[in-house]
Amino acid sequence: MTPLFSPLSIKGLVFSSEGPSSSGPGLNAQQDGHYSVMLPEIIAVLTPQDNEVFVDGTFGAGGYSRAIAQQADCKVFGIDRDPTAHANAKKLPEVITGQISTLAGCFGDMQSLLKQAGINKVDGITLDLGVSSMQLDQAERGFSFQEDGPLDMRMDGPNSDQRPPASHIVNTYDEKEIADILYKYGEEKKSRLIARAIVTDRVEKPFETTLQLADLIRRIIRQKPRKDGKNIHPATRSFQALRIFVNDELGELERGLEAAEQLLNPGGRLAIVSFHSLEDRIVKNFLRERSGGTPQGSRHSPTVEPAALCKAPFSLPTKKAIAPSDKECNENPRSRSAKLRVAIRTDAPCTQGEAA
Ligand SMILES: C[S@@+](CC[C@H](N)C(=O)[O-])C[C@H]1O[C@@H](n2cnc3c(N)ncnc32)[C@H](O)[C@@H]1O
Repeated sequence: MTPLFSPLSIKGLVFSSEGPSSSGPGLNAQQDGHYSVMLPEIIAVLTPQDNEVFVDGTFGAGGYSRAIAQQADCKVFGIDRDPTAHANAKKLPEVITGQISTLAGCFGDMQSLLKQAGINKVDGITLDLGVSSMQLDQAERGFSFQEDGPLDMRMDGPNSDQRPPASHIVNTYDEKEIADILYKYGEEKKSRLIARAIVTDRVEKPFETTLQLADLIRRIIRQKPRKDGKNIHPATRSFQALRIFVNDELGELERGLEAAEQLLNPGGRLAIVSFHSLEDRIVKNFLRERSGGTPQGSRHSPTVEPAALCKAPFSLPTKKAIAPSDKECNENPRSRSAKLRVAIRTDAPCTQGEAA
């Protein structure tokens, strides 16, 4: 199959400030009200070829999976933990033809999910971390502090038996535990004040809805309006913290990165889009370590043998995170905080040894 999108060289990875077109043939970043972040860059990194196998660990609306499938006669496995994503996927043409298969579960478990599908090695893996705009827009999922809904936040859906909803944490954890969660996962400076107010208020009335919690936080964090009018909602950081904790998002990312090292063939491509510094730090440190970047020797006493560097399981076409184009940021303001990190699997054995 002739690729519909001419891939950029992944070695160079030089994107102009305009960036590659997000609406070129076969690349439609905007579908069904969902915008696929940095889609042209993802395709340029993955460079799908005929007969290759890809994993889209965060299927969502299927934007990445479909674009990959449209580039070559390849096979795509789309993983998502949200049952709604699977229900919506059924109507997609590439799912109907079988070029894309969706797998229900977490990308941290991608090795076992793929094994059940008879796949031990793949040629490319991509992750687009966090929640989708569809999840955010559905008030009943409890991710939004703008609209009222049950204080849930489980990506696996409200019927999940894997984990408790956010209301359980807010209503039963002790003050210090809540403060630590808000600080660690939301970098919320007023975490202690918010936690104290939560445990005081919940005696009268347990927290059941998103606006109940958002209103409390607004009461605690009094913001001076910024001159440019760009104040973020005072509940942004606390909601992010609870969501990350409820879904064990950072643990998932760590397991997903380990699995990617195990699954990728030599020459396999890894492309990860993150949206906040906690995620990006994990990806950056993992790739730095697995590409021979640590331990870091000094100029005077190098501690890293050149031979050890050759054995690193990943090589990095660029050590820097790639940012979305100005054009994309204008089209989709949510893209502004996106960072793409890329790596190529070498033929070195896995750091933890090959999985059985
Ligand atoms: C930002 S959206 C992905 C959008 C997708 N790239 C597209 O173009 O349509 C993230 C999706 O990943 C899913 N997700 C997040 N963390 C996950 C995990 N650990 N395992 C599986 N799915 C996950 C969410 O349920 C959501 O549907």
